[in-house]
Formats: sequence, C-alpha cells, structure tokens
Amino acid sequence: MTETNADGERLDVVDILTTDHREMIELIGQIGLTADAGERRDLADTLIAEVMRHAVAEEMYVYPVVKDHVPNGAEDVEHDKKEHDEIVKLMKKIEGVDPSDQTFMELVRELESQLTHHAGDEESEQFPKLRSHIPREKLIDLGEKVQKAKKLAPTRPHPSAPHSELFHKTVGAGVGMVDRLRDKLTGRHTG
Ligand SMILES: [Fe+2]
Ligand SMILES: [Fe+2]
Repeated sequence: MTETNADGERLDVVDILTTDHREMIELIGQIGLTADAGERRDLADTLIAEVMRHAVAEEMYVYPVVKDHVPNGAEDVEHDKKEHDEIVKLMKKIEGVDPSDQTFMELVRELESQLTHHAGDEESEQFPKLRSHIPREKLIDLGEKVQKAKKLAPTRPHPSAPHSELFHKTVGAGVGMVDRLRDKLTGRHTG
C-alpha cells in the first residue's frame, strides 16, 4: 500500500529516501550521546542495518532509473555506488571494533561525515533531477518498490560482495534473509 503524509498525500520515492537519511543522521548522533558500550553497539548495529537496507534499495530500484532517465545519470550512479562501497567498508570496520575502544567513535565520526556528504549529494543533486525527469506516478511506484526491497535487503555489511544490480536482484534477497536469521540467533536487534 502506498504510504501517505499527514495531509493524506501519497509519498514518492524521494520522500521515503529523504526520511531514511534523516533517520540515519539522527541515529548516528545518538551513538555519541551515550557512554555505555552496549548501547553504542546496539545503536551502531541498528544504524548499519538501516544503511544497508537503504543503499541496497537505492541500487536495486533508484539508481537504474537515474541512469536511464536523468541526463548524466550514468556518471552520477557510478559516483554514488563508489560512495556506497566506501560506506559499507567503513561499517564493516565498525562491526569489528570494540565500542569501548577509542577507535570506535573515530570510525563513527568518519561514517557520520560520509553519510552526511552522500545524503547531501543525493538530496541536492539526484533527487531534484528525479522529480523533474520522472512522472510522479512512477516515483510513487518506485517508493513502494523501495519499501519492499528494504524488507529483503541484507542487514550486515558485505564489502566483498559485488555491488551490482544483478547481485542485489538475485543473491541480495537471500543474503538479507541469512543476515536476519543470524541477527535473530544472536539476539541482535536490527528491526
Ligand atoms: Fe545512496
Ligand atoms: Fe540515499
């Protein structure tokens, strides 16, 4: 079902992805507000899962549309995917560092600046281009696809996995399910 805002207007893919960005930035801010290592780990795990779902959904459904329908879209997508890869690598590092270690917050700060930069790029460049080149009905439909993809997407960073559309469309969903099962078995709360 299509989600709506408080005024009953249907949300398009730009609304949905922009809200995701806000939530990620909000979540990453919370990590610095607690000195409790367990809480930092939980918040970081939740953040990582959110970023993975978001990035995979973008690569599966949004970037192909940018590539085909937006002027210079292919270059933008190339650039964005590289940034996703950097973000995934950084999140993998964060997974492996003890939250009570000083390095942990240094990596979190680095991730915060990468995420802020990447979200800023998308919101100021790609998203306005999407809205000016793609009909609204299509953007609403894309929003629904993104929400569905987020439910199946991996929740753990997999830097060695090829970030190709083919991967996300075929193996990607499977990896997401394996991650979720693992999260459940280890009691990790990633939503
Ligand atoms: Fe992105
Ligand atoms: Fe994004």
